[in-house]
Amino acid sequence: MIELKDVHKRYEAMKVLDGVNLEVRRGEFVSIRGKSGIGKTTLVRIAGLLERPDSGRVLFEGRPVTMLNEGERSNIRLGRIGFIFQLHNLIPNLSVRENVELPLSLEGIRKEERSRKTEELLSYFDLEGFGERNPGSLSGGERQRVTIARALINDPDVVMADEPTASLDEENAELVLEMLERIRDERDVAIVLTTTNMRDDLPTDTDYILKDGKLEG
Ligand SMILES: Nc1ncnc2c1ncn2[C@@H]1O[C@H](COP(=O)(O)OP(=O)(O)OP(=O)(O)O)[C@@H](O)[C@H]1O
Ligand SMILES: [Mg+2]
Repeated sequence: MIELKDVHKRYEAMKVLDGVNLEVRRGEFVSIRGKSGIGKTTLVRIAGLLERPDSGRVLFEGRPVTMLNEGERSNIRLGRIGFIFQLHNLIPNLSVRENVELPLSLEGIRKEERSRKTEELLSYFDLEGFGERNPGSLSGGERQRVTIARALINDPDVVMADEPTASLDEENAELVLEMLERIRDERDVAIVLTTTNMRDDLPTDTDYILKDGKLEG
C-alpha cells in the first residue's frame, strides 16, 4: 500500500527522520511507538502525503508520489486515505453529521450519497441519534468514535491514526483500539497507528519503535 524508502526530514538544525524505511501492506495494522517529540506525527504526515520528505521515496501502491503536484497528492488523500489527527479532530461549529460528511463534501459528492454513507457509518459505530449534536457536547470517547467514522467516510484503503487514544481513559482507549481492529478485519483497511504508550498488547500485526530518526522492528 504505502512504502517509505530512506526518508529524511529535518526542521532547521534538527534531524527528525534520518533514514526511515517502512512498508505497510493492504489490511495490515501497524503501530509506530516512540517518545513525545520523536517524529511520529512528522512520519505519519509524510506517509499520508500531507508533507514531503527532504529526501527518500514515498510510494503509494508502488507509485512514487513525492514528485506529484499538490492537486494530485490531494486527490490521493481525499480518495484513498483516512486521517485521525492527534488534536483538533472535529470542527466545533459543524454538527456531528456535517463533520463526518466533510471529506465527501470536499470531494464534491452528491448530498444523497453523502447522507447514505454518513447514516451507515454513524450506525456502524453506534452513533445513531448523534448526527445533529454539536461535537462540543460529546464525551471524549464519543468524539473519538465520530472521528473514526469520518476517517472512513471515503472508503479509504489506509487510515493514519496519530495518537488516537492519547486523551482517553483506559476504557475508551481500549474501545478505540477495538474499533480500529474491527475496521481492519471487516473492511480490509490498513492502519498506521502512533502512540507514546509502550504497552505490548496492541491488536496490531506489526510494531515498530521510532528512535534516533529510524524505525526499529
Ligand atoms: N513544522 C515544524 N517546524 C519546526 N519544527 C517542527 C515542525 N513540526 C515538528 N517539528 C519538531 O520536530 C520534532 C518531531 O515532532 P513530531 O510532532 O513529529 O513528534 P511526535 O513524535 O509526534 O511528538 P508527540 O508524541 O508529542 O506528538 C519536534 O521536536 C517538533 O518540535
Ligand atoms: Mg505527534
